[in-house]
Amino acid sequence: MVRRLYKKLFGGVGRAFGLLSHDLGIDLGTANTLVYARDRGIVLNEPSVVALYSDTRKVRAVGDEAKLMLGRTPGNIVATRPMKDGVIADFDVTEAMLRYFIAKACRSAKFVAPRVVVAVPSGITEVERRAVKESAMNAGAREVLLLQEPVAAAIGVGLPIDEPAASMIVDIGGGTTEVAIISLSGVVYSRSLRVGGDAMDMAIVNYLKRAHNLFIGERTAEEIKIRIGSALPLDVERSMAVKGRDTITGLPQTVHVTSQEVREALSDSLNAIADMIRTTLERCPPELSSDLVDRGIVLAGGGSLIKNLDQLLRQRTCLPVFVADDALRAVANGTGVVLQDLSSWLKISGSS
Ligand SMILES: Nc1ncnc2c1ncn2[C@@H]1O[C@H](COP(=O)(O)OP(=O)(O)OP(=O)(O)O)[C@@H](O)[C@H]1O
Ligand SMILES: [Mg+2]
Repeated sequence: MVRRLYKKLFGGVGRAFGLLSHDLGIDLGTANTLVYARDRGIVLNEPSVVALYSDTRKVRAVGDEAKLMLGRTPGNIVATRPMKDGVIADFDVTEAMLRYFIAKACRSAKFVAPRVVVAVPSGITEVERRAVKESAMNAGAREVLLLQEPVAAAIGVGLPIDEPAASMIVDIGGGTTEVAIISLSGVVYSRSLRVGGDAMDMAIVNYLKRAHNLFIGERTAEEIKIRIGSALPLDVERSMAVKGRDTITGLPQTVHVTSQEVREALSDSLNAIADMIRTTLERCPPELSSDLVDRGIVLAGGGSLIKNLDQLLRQRTCLPVFVADDALRAVANGTGVVLQDLSSWLKISGSS
């Protein structure tokens, strides 16, 4: 009865969304969380990091401020990343982080508990989906809708996913790489691999330990990857001075690392991603395969910014490969489009 009345008044959930201005789209990423506020655009983009007092587990800092503390905290504070491999690794901390981000995003608006669209990896289990929903509800959301990340990314980069023709998106994030073939607003085939930027950082940490007896932290590894990491030889190879701890003497040490070395360190992760894309193409129905010959593959997510990765994937797939213009914000932009017209998107198989 109440529901019928509600429906009569608002014409369904889609239009109800349209009437409210506090609705949020959240890209709850392993590395970064972005919040899109309806009609306002992306209002928050911060690392998914929380610093806690180790004895009381009270939150000391979240986001940008907490990331600066990673690996540099005194004994009474721990800086952690509550998301791992694209999913919640620490429920309570994720909830605290979400509460902080939601409050920050709603700060300038009159606070009415928002409805929230959260992008989640396509490969997550039912238990993991429930954890995300519960976490967002406990963090202050009034209603939570989950949207598959690759669908959000495809919408965000403006692929014509509602056409009866295949579009392929590859979202390389911090924790996962998601590949999806989408046609008629539905996911025809998708795969998710728990390899992304974090695995690349770890590979660099391990490489330097092995090749140079140098122990470095995750943040330094990430900086090396971003500055001189590449998938194929660069026109002009580069090098950088890297500071860390000598694993033999135990003393601080500086080593010069070349882009060739970093490429070698990254090769396993990048090959795993290329293999997954090939497998996805092999499973693709033939009509859709032929669409991809013309339309190619679009890359999104921070990992797609590795130099020459598009070229490597072009070689491996023989298809055109493009890196999205706003690769790091594609998923959040996609949730924003969904917020504007929710009822149409509810038909997408990936949303719930
Ligand atoms: N210019 C760059 N070159 C290489 N890697 C980059 C660059 N910029 C960002 N990254 C990497 O991209 C990753 C973050 O990407 P993104 O924000 O898309 O991930 P996420 O959405 O948080 O993770 P996930 O989708 O797996 O949950 C990090 O590993 C970061 O080091
Ligand atoms: Mg992501």
